[in-house]
Amino acid sequence: MKPLIQAKHLCKSYGTLKVLQNLDFELFESEFVAITGASGSGKSTLMHVLAGLDQADSGQLFFDGTAYPTHGSALDQFRNQQLGLVFQFHHLMPELTAFENILLPALIAGRTASEVEPFARELAERLDLADRLKHRPDALSGGEQQRVAIARALINRPKVVLADEPSGNLDRTRSEELYALLADARTTWNVSVVVVTHSDWLAARADRRLHLQDGAWT
Ligand SMILES: Nc1ncnc2c1ncn2[C@@H]1O[C@H](COP(=O)(O)OP(=O)(O)OP(=O)(O)O)[C@@H](O)[C@H]1O
Ligand SMILES: [Mg+2]
Repeated sequence: MKPLIQAKHLCKSYGTLKVLQNLDFELFESEFVAITGASGSGKSTLMHVLAGLDQADSGQLFFDGTAYPTHGSALDQFRNQQLGLVFQFHHLMPELTAFENILLPALIAGRTASEVEPFARELAERLDLADRLKHRPDALSGGEQQRVAIARALINRPKVVLADEPSGNLDRTRSEELYALLADARTTWNVSVVVVTHSDWLAARADRRLHLQDGAWT
């Protein structure tokens, strides 16, 4: 089977600090992969590289058999349409309502609000946000903000969701909730999921679990 994402020999350093050391990674269709590792082991760096938000110093990246676009609008468009990102600090737009935040990637993709509203409402319903949609992020709980970020990540029906769980967040309930939402998204919308987590509970439930140490798999 052809991998959806394939990374080969990724290397990245910050000065003398080698953060990714000749790292290979594959993600297959509708797979749920969990990445664990100590703080500073390179998890977020890898996720940023897989998301096309950051470039490796060397190595190759393929999506569905084709090399990632390297920069510019092609890269922006690729990220917007193929990937859903749920990253540490959700980066919700503070001046937009929850609903507007969910719609934003679709509007950026050139779709009209009326075109995407039905799916946005379906996502909101599914993520238990239906009665929070008029609120701005600062009026939402942390869990609600996370759910808005997940809905926003799914609005363009990406093939892959990349989720980087906040490192301080070892709260079991939140991990269970995140797992339930991502697992549900996988079966409902057939997305593949890569989640970085500090939760052994969550990692144990993934199809595949990878452990990063000093920028290499162990
Ligand atoms: N922009 C940067 N400049 C210099 N060093 C960086 C930069 N970004 C990350 N690093 C360093 O690279 C290493 C890996 O960072 P990374 O954020 O990938 O770790 P992590 O595994 O996600 O950790 P955590 O579990 O705490 O989120 C760390 O030592 C970090 O300090
Ligand atoms: Mg991190």
